[in-house]
Amino acid sequence: MQLFEAIFQPLSLAEFRQHFDQGKCLVVEGEPTKFDGLVSPDDIERRLNDGCNANQFVQVIKDGARAPNLDSNCAWTPAALKKAAFTQDLRDGFSFMMPNSSQITPGIARLCTELEDFFGDQSMHADVHLYVSTNESGNSYNVHRDLPQHKILLQSHGDAVWQIFEPKQEIPSHMRAMTQEQTQEYLSVASEFTLKQGSLLYMPPGTFHRVVQVSGPRISISIPFYTLKNAQKMDRSRIPFTDLFVRMD
Ligand SMILES: [Fe+2]
Repeated sequence: MQLFEAIFQPLSLAEFRQHFDQGKCLVVEGEPTKFDGLVSPDDIERRLNDGCNANQFVQVIKDGARAPNLDSNCAWTPAALKKAAFTQDLRDGFSFMMPNSSQITPGIARLCTELEDFFGDQSMHADVHLYVSTNESGNSYNVHRDLPQHKILLQSHGDAVWQIFEPKQEIPSHMRAMTQEQTQEYLSVASEFTLKQGSLLYMPPGTFHRVVQVSGPRISISIPFYTLKNAQKMDRSRIPFTDLFVRMD
């Protein structure tokens, strides 16, 4: 079975497609081990420490938004992660977001490629953002909506409490994130639930949402995807370096 099919089990891909076409959210509960092997804390540690091969850096979430913490005055690169400050942020309990992670492991790369292939034409493009907290004080963004991308969230490690909102009135199109006062004025809570380890959430574009709290250490695999014509597919093929290296002996 393909990975993209397996993540929706016991639902079928046809049932997912129905929600996609109708613009409806979907939650699929699963065993806590369901997403084992996709990404591990070791995979994240390796990437956090490999400062030589990152084109987008981790961003710490503070005051309801995210920000990179980079040193632009480094002799060898215009952008070096301030690692000691980042470590302190982790100690202080802030969550972080690791963008452009669709190739962090072979499994995640395969999943993204299968997702793109599922839609049949060449114009669907997926990425992966990892949302990570190291303890129960992990924080998140203010209420917001993501456009134009659809989202699939895989709760890989730990649990997260979610709120999904529905509009009470017409919302100006420029409003993407909301303060508490705006949330009260424009939105009401449509559902609040705990996305448990092993569960999946699908959200259509434009859904207002937020993560209220996390129960402890967590890794949430967020897969945004949208249609863009005339864009190149990301080449996620594996470079067989060690095979080639041995043959060169
Ligand atoms: Fe979001």
